[in-house]
Amino acid sequence: MWQGRDSRGDVGEGVLSVAASSLGREASASPGGSVPKRPAGTDTVFPRMGGTVQCEGVPLPEIAAAAGTPVYVYSTAGITSQYRALDTAFSAVPHRIHYSVKANGNLAILRLLRSLGAGVDIVSGGELYRALRANYSGRDVVFSGVGKTATEIGEALAAGVRLINAESEAELTIVNDEASRAGVVADIALRVNPEVTVSTPHPYIKTGERGNKFGIAYDEIPDVARRANRLSSVRIRGLDMHLGSQIAGTEPYREGMQRLLELCRILAADGTAQLEYLDVGGGLAVTYEGEDAADPAALAAVVAPVLPPGVTLLLEPGRYLVANAGVLLTRVLFRKRTGGKTYIITDAGMTDLLRPSHYSAYHRIEPVSARVGGQDGGSAVVDVVGPVCESGDFFALDRRMDDVQPGDLLVIYSAGAYGFAMASNYNARPRPAEVLVDGRRFAVVTTRESYEDLVRHEQPALAWRDA
Ligand SMILES: Cc1ncc(COP(=O)(O)O)c(C=O)c1O
Repeated sequence: MWQGRDSRGDVGEGVLSVAASSLGREASASPGGSVPKRPAGTDTVFPRMGGTVQCEGVPLPEIAAAAGTPVYVYSTAGITSQYRALDTAFSAVPHRIHYSVKANGNLAILRLLRSLGAGVDIVSGGELYRALRANYSGRDVVFSGVGKTATEIGEALAAGVRLINAESEAELTIVNDEASRAGVVADIALRVNPEVTVSTPHPYIKTGERGNKFGIAYDEIPDVARRANRLSSVRIRGLDMHLGSQIAGTEPYREGMQRLLELCRILAADGTAQLEYLDVGGGLAVTYEGEDAADPAALAAVVAPVLPPGVTLLLEPGRYLVANAGVLLTRVLFRKRTGGKTYIITDAGMTDLLRPSHYSAYHRIEPVSARVGGQDGGSAVVDVVGPVCESGDFFALDRRMDDVQPGDLLVIYSAGAYGFAMASNYNARPRPAEVLVDGRRFAVVTTRESYEDLVRHEQPALAWRDA
């Protein structure tokens, strides 16, 4: 149910048309240096008005009052502008954007992206279920993933997914068996490990280098394809790759595309397959700190002109569409000085946003409301940490930021991707609420978990003990 004042409000079309590439840069957040500035795109989707940060037309304190903290807040305009920028960049060629559900599988966000024209990229039966619940049809779905079970493959076939991106020869055999059992022929893309070296901020988000667990080794593809042709219930329709995540430059995509095209030529030359789809995966970078974001026009300039006639290009972006359209709102519980350090202890923890702990990721953090005297009312070098019983439970270490006190609200930026999706119940912490804003309206699109939710699936009374 939408809350708030009225539709759209005074933010209007200007927000919707923000070019993705304008989601700008931020000064370095070096300890002891100046307080980092906010990038331009954030100022548009999360403007600071009268000293208080808003999401589109809704002041964040209003959302905290209605939904409590910690709470994820997403901007409809932010997601829409990113989607449109990417879609427009590729308008010269047949293409489809298959949003990578793993980045943020919230049903309201899936429905928003569907309304914009997106399909989805899924990696599990659970994500298929989410996509179908958000009214996607099977034809809107491509199914990736290195460890699909026979049950999940059966579910995907029953839903009529557009493509199963097969990641090994053994998987092809299982797809063939399941398809034959279901009396259908499965459309397949072979996921190629293009063996392209990429520069990513963390090794965990490289996926297309030699030795990664994903896909089929580049030089094995022709033989695997030939053997797949002998299977009666699979049909090879495409090739797929995913290089990794948070890739700003175009060179890896150019190289990867060349490798896919080379394989296309080999498979066409010996009559193994006439391909209809080339899927270049996701991985487009966003700005968290001062780093470059991916430029959709530059990416299109290296990929679109080499697309063979009759082939549809697929893209699987996750982070690019949602990361900077979401923030995590949290309240300061304590300000504690110990061992020569100042700790800001918040009601959100690594259970709500794992990225700093898991990937050493940077997220910009600011007080929601400027203190009396303005943003220059004082800064401090602090660790921003959560309540979880782990020393790895932090959002920022030795960070200079505007000083805050218990009771203050903090906004943690760039939290729309791999935020709620990676949340857990560790320390028996209920997962937070999620709110979607549209102009001056907002709605709680995921209710905060209750204590009862934490034990809902447990069965404590064992007959042999309690009888
Ligand atoms: C197969 C596949 N496609 C797409 C994505 C989305 O990546 P990103 O969020 O960086 O765009 C991932 C992420 O891991 C992936 O594994």
